[in-house]
Amino acid sequence: MAAVRAIEQADLIVAPVACEGGISMAMRIASHWIKPDQPQLSVVFPMVEAPEPRQQAWKAAADLLASEVSTGKQVVLLCEGDASLFASGSYVLLSLQQRHPSCQLRVIPGITSFSSTAAAAVWPLALQQDQLLVAPCPDSELDFERMASHAEEQGQNLALLKLGRRWRWLRPLLEQRGLLSRSLFAEKVGWPDQCIAPAEQIAAEERPYFSLLLIRQRWPDVLP
Ligand SMILES: C[S@@+](CC[C@H](N)C(=O)[O-])C[C@H]1O[C@@H](n2cnc3c(N)ncnc32)[C@H](O)[C@@H]1O
Repeated sequence: MAAVRAIEQADLIVAPVACEGGISMAMRIASHWIKPDQPQLSVVFPMVEAPEPRQQAWKAAADLLASEVSTGKQVVLLCEGDASLFASGSYVLLSLQQRHPSCQLRVIPGITSFSSTAAAAVWPLALQQDQLLVAPCPDSELDFERMASHAEEQGQNLALLKLGRRWRWLRPLLEQRGLLSRSLFAEKVGWPDQCIAPAEQIAAEERPYFSLLLIRQRWPDVLP
């Protein structure tokens, strides 16, 4: 509700995109509440490994937001899910704090993709002594094996983000480790074409960037 109010009252709505002319999913989601005459702007945050282009983009976005705010405007920077979790907006906020410390900031908490998934599937993320590790899906089979062994030892449930193309090799590994039947696959949660299903039902092929996996190691002894 706070986010809806902020959008409705904004003089400028800014959304991150990965490339010039790119589509912002955050803007699409927020479009329900944006009036036709409300000014909108996209800022490009390039998805590259090199640090300089990314740092430049964060600084440029921070300077732009601060300059709009200095004219008395209320500016909203959109973010998917929660702004504190693997979000470009976090870098802009850090940059704003460094470069424009007097710029008034307010972060409205959001619902993370893994919380939305858990709610939609009625999937308890953690119970009793469970631990929950939220992490990007590792890039290699070896790194996943290490993560999975540690998680098994610790009784850690996993929420693996940035699944996408990694699903192709991850699915067979989960099967080998007996984890596939304990995993939930989720893609485009909250979108019209969302897919939330037991991971066993999803073939080992590339999936969209907006996909994730929840893995439950085991259930506690005491349950209803
Ligand atoms: C850059 S992170 C952003 C996380 C986001 N701030 C959050 O609170 O969940 C992007 C990753 O989050 C996950 N994600 C974000 N939105 C999603 C959605 N609607 N459905 C499934 N996964 C999503 C995917 O794993 C995606 O690769």
